[in-house]
Amino acid sequence: MVVLTGGARGVTAACALEMAEKYSPVLILIGRSPLPASEPAWAENLHEPALLKKAILAGAFKGRTPKPVEIDKEYQKIMAGREIQGHMEQMKAHGSTVRYFSADVGNKAEMDAVFKAVRKEFRQITAIVHGAGVIDDKRIVDKQPEPFMRVMETKVKGLDVLLSLSKTDPLKYFVLFSSIAARTGNQGQCDYAMANEVLNKTAQKLAAAHPSCKYLSLNWGPWDGGMVDDSLKREFAKKGWPLFP
Ligand SMILES: NC(=O)c1ccc[n+]([C@@H]2O[C@H](COP(=O)([O-])OP(=O)(O)OC[C@H]3O[C@@H](n4cnc5c(N)ncnc54)[C@H](OP(=O)(O)O)[C@@H]3O)[C@@H](O)[C@H]2O)c1
Repeated sequence: MVVLTGGARGVTAACALEMAEKYSPVLILIGRSPLPASEPAWAENLHEPALLKKAILAGAFKGRTPKPVEIDKEYQKIMAGREIQGHMEQMKAHGSTVRYFSADVGNKAEMDAVFKAVRKEFRQITAIVHGAGVIDDKRIVDKQPEPFMRVMETKVKGLDVLLSLSKTDPLKYFVLFSSIAARTGNQGQCDYAMANEVLNKTAQKLAAAHPSCKYLSLNWGPWDGGMVDDSLKREFAKKGWPLFP
């Protein structure tokens, strides 16, 4: 049974899907987004962004005129729900039993509740993939404490929480989604690079100390998806770095 932080969306979901296709394990997916409920009737079957945003404007804010940022937030919520739902359905179609929990990986109480519920239903946790991560790219002089800490803590405090809660689990694999930015640096990403390098060094140390579990920190290069948006894609193209499909 595999617990994946960030496993319902982005590239961690792509890896969970691959696991479902090859081995059909029980997959426990964790993200901050709420478990998607059924969509309001006015949003159903709308996939074109402009049409969906028009429907949001008409359907979600009855009696008042929302700010563009509110429409965008509602749009992102619907799109996140669809992404989670779609991935879960695909994983189940490959034979995996799938559960989704809404929790912040850096919140020990929330994660403790998830781990307890998971052990109650499935007895043992045998593998953990820590894929949760966020970016907030800015030059060092423009970095503010709150976003800086969010980037760091999603990875580093998240790892700390996972290690502390899984102490008694018979783990065979503990895989961390780190980044090549940890080794090369990247413009605007001093916080992200540091956070990922903490993952690397921690995995190195744990691998030496606990050979019964495979600790691995994967320094991914850029993928064509997830947090790599069009502007990042252009930057990578300039450097001649190819994207993982
Ligand atoms: N994409 C790439 O090219 C690339 C390259 C190198 C490394 N990586 C690493 O791969 C991992 C996934 O990246 P991605 O591109 O797939 O990003 P993404 O599409 O933004 O997905 C990030 C995932 O993390 C979850 N998440 C974020 N903060 C969380 C928190 N506090 N608690 C629980 N879940 C949280 C998100 O779910 P919610 O929003 O629902 O919380 C989402 O599922 C990251 O660790 C990233 O650093 C990615």
